[in-house]
Amino acid sequence: MSYENIKEELLNWSLKFKEKQGHAPHMCFLTFGCQMSFHDAELIAGLLWELGFVKIDQPEQADIIVMNTCSVRESAENRVLGQLGRLKHLKENNPDMIIAFGGCMAQRPEIVEKIEKSYRQVDLLFGTHKIDDFLRLLHNVLFSQSRSKDLEETNALPKEGLPRLRVQKHSAMVSITYGCNNFCTYCIVPYVRGRERSRRPEDIISEIEFLVADGVKEVTLLGQNVNSYGKGLEPQVDFADLLVEVAEITDLKRIRFMTSHPRDVSDKLISAFAQYDNICKHFHLPLQAGSNSILKAMNRGYSKEKYLQLAQKIKEDVPQVSFTTDIIVGFPSETEEEFQETLDLVEKIGFDSAYTFIYSKRGGTPAAQMEGQVPYQIKQQRIQRLMDLQAEISLQKNLKLEGETLQVLVEGPSKNDANMYTGRSDGYKLVHFPSQEDKTGEIISVKIEKASPWHLTGRLV
Ligand code: 5AD
Ligand code: SF4
Repeated sequence: MSYENIKEELLNWSLKFKEKQGHAPHMCFLTFGCQMSFHDAELIAGLLWELGFVKIDQPEQADIIVMNTCSVRESAENRVLGQLGRLKHLKENNPDMIIAFGGCMAQRPEIVEKIEKSYRQVDLLFGTHKIDDFLRLLHNVLFSQSRSKDLEETNALPKEGLPRLRVQKHSAMVSITYGCNNFCTYCIVPYVRGRERSRRPEDIISEIEFLVADGVKEVTLLGQNVNSYGKGLEPQVDFADLLVEVAEITDLKRIRFMTSHPRDVSDKLISAFAQYDNICKHFHLPLQAGSNSILKAMNRGYSKEKYLQLAQKIKEDVPQVSFTTDIIVGFPSETEEEFQETLDLVEKIGFDSAYTFIYSKRGGTPAAQMEGQVPYQIKQQRIQRLMDLQAEISLQKNLKLEGETLQVLVEGPSKNDANMYTGRSDGYKLVHFPSQEDKTGEIISVKIEKASPWHLTGRLV
């Protein structure tokens, strides 16, 4: 059946549903993991929205629940399975409810086997490769009353011009590459998201122009390794070229990008980064470890000296830069001395903040087979020491901002306090401020009055 026919039948189904139930079918999203996962969820929401589905937040009232999952650490997978377990009784109350399970975990054969055997509440399994095929699977479930799955790997790009139902009106994620070719030895991503492929620059630019016309002020260019953008494209283009082209878009106020890989950051990129005011001065550059032996075992492709040099160059060329990183502790065979090297480097570089992780063994990756797996207790002690050090450094960095006025893109009211609003500074710092007026979506000036390691508080000027 053609895609158009599938859509037409689903649209009719949705209209009939509304007639019978008195409301449009409700969709609810449970999303885990990185921005790529949230991006996928917005695409699926867009496909369903075109068919008249309405998005809601309460799973109890959903007619379809879509789970976009994450495999990067075992703890994430356990959280997902826990949630999925809890959905079982919802389905008992409403047997017509559809549960769709997808994303990175659905690309792992052992998880798929588990779901097929023990989680019978799942009707639809979708992978990371063919998001745009979601409606075909849904059609199968609705019209052949059977479970449906498509976990095929393709190295094709998703169709261009798919509808998106964005969560944030003023800020949008834009994928520039899919997949990853780096094969860091601890990481599952290359196995669940496939080989790296880049979208064509003209497709990216026209998507962003469309978003800007729709009121978007900030875009985040997404890829597992944005710096290797453009490999294989004709005519030749690299990430710095793309960034410049994006920065030239009129009325685009803020550009962010993630994630960068230290091996591939070029001088050309740093100078483009420095040159444009609308490129946010926030550089996220995963270090992962601070000793050369561990970096090598991780297959990261750089030494600690090379990283340090790069960090210094970025900080010199862009003095106001906010510099953040990812670090893994307890990689197999990491000794106390090697961990100490990480602490030393963290202190020397002075990150604004660091996302710190306990190494998690991922079946099928080379590190899972390595000798010298570090006991959990030691990993836990190491992460605590690292977090304590980083909290102190982050606080010192943030204290320097007291009295400064920052430009903040307001995300909305604070979750904990009805009188407070929350937003992000150019350097990606979380800023809270009181306001009587709803400033959501505006870029405003906030004078910082109080710093903590994790956020800043100030007042409107
Ligand atoms: N264990 C712990 N952390 C991991 N990351 C990726 N794989 C693992 C793993 N197996 C971390 C890396 C990466 C971030 C997104 O997640 O630091 O940069
Ligand atoms: Fe994983 Fe390394 Fe690719 Fe990042 S660059 S997704 S850590 S393999």
